[in-house]
Amino acid sequence: MFSDKEIKKFKELETPFFYYNIDQLKNTLEKIKKASNKFGFLVHYAMKANANDKILQIIKDYGFGADCVSGNEVKKAVEIGFSPKKIVFAGVGKSDKEINLSLDADIFAFNCESLQEIEVINELAEKKGKIADIAVRINPNVNAHTHHYITTGLNENKFGINLWQLDNLFNLLKKTEHIRLIGIHFHIGSQITDLNVFKNLCLRVNEIQEIFINNQILVEHINVGGGLGVDYEHPDNDNFIDFEAFFGLFHRFLDLKHGQELHFELGRSMVANAGSLISRVLYIKKAVKTIFAILDAGMTELIRPALYQAYHKIENLSSTKAIEFYDVVGPICESSDTFAKTVQLPETKRGDLIAIRTTGAYGEVMTSQYNLRDIAPAVYSDEI
Ligand code: LLP
Repeated sequence: MFSDKEIKKFKELETPFFYYNIDQLKNTLEKIKKASNKFGFLVHYAMKANANDKILQIIKDYGFGADCVSGNEVKKAVEIGFSPKKIVFAGVGKSDKEINLSLDADIFAFNCESLQEIEVINELAEKKGKIADIAVRINPNVNAHTHHYITTGLNENKFGINLWQLDNLFNLLKKTEHIRLIGIHFHIGSQITDLNVFKNLCLRVNEIQEIFINNQILVEHINVGGGLGVDYEHPDNDNFIDFEAFFGLFHRFLDLKHGQELHFELGRSMVANAGSLISRVLYIKKAVKTIFAILDAGMTELIRPALYQAYHKIENLSSTKAIEFYDVVGPICESSDTFAKTVQLPETKRGDLIAIRTTGAYGEVMTSQYNLRDIAPAVYSDEI
């Protein structure tokens, strides 16, 4: 829902742009902070969801850590002022340059995804006379029941170290003198809306912890990644995610050992609701079976529908006329540049303002300049 003041301002602005509702963002962050603090859990914000400076600054000010997946994200987290002791660095393909930069920054932990990566970090740390703190990402083979492109915790996925490699891992850790194992890391997928999936993860983590303990390894922290889903169908429903129930489930089912910390890496659930992509209708075109509403925003601003067949609610902010059906598309020269087919909208005309909702996560960060398009700017509710 947008206020009259917001819509009036949108009318004055060039489109497309990403709009962020800062109050809504803070509201969500407040809830997460309260619910995670209740159980003493630590949350690292998965920067890949939205790396916009202003959003990062706000998240940092709430005291969250940063979960990074590239050297540039580590650099950015440090620049924004996240404490290096709250920065984790994950990813299956960390380059030597990225590892060196993170060793220099003294980050909290590398979340390591393969045995070879541990060997390389060991070598690079040795050259610097440092000890690298690592968590090993274990692939728990738990089905996240989400889109196959964003499922990461199955044996067939490229992520993490598989369970049958654990003996090799334990042998390797005895030899790598510049590595200190401080954690076990998991992440099974994204946009998970069934909390039972997380319960299954907890039970699996407990089993996997036992394997480590049987090998005389007791780590300081367990990191269960992110993945908590949002309600794309009802963008104004801020109560869809019950953060207390989410963290409470881990409190109840994950068997933490004495003194052990539990870490999370939430991305989408922290920022998705706060963002919308605001666009204008360029043309209405009647075709044989449908009416196309052609927008000035496309897959260059929001690739999720084209890439994952993702649903984002589309609203016409300029019309209240009778309902029609439209295929809402962008201007890019690809048929996949379609936001949604057969959408019900009030009768729509050239110049109408269109909001594509819940784009705060994996929207602005995934933009491209394909077709040499301009980069869409960000507009913030507290600056209009
Ligand atoms: N930790 C790790 C290791 C991850 O790979 C991810 C997301 C997260 C945390 C944060 O997950 P979240 O809480 O945001 O679900 N571009 C896709 C999503 C890709 C997610 C990749 N990993 C999309 O638009 O749906």
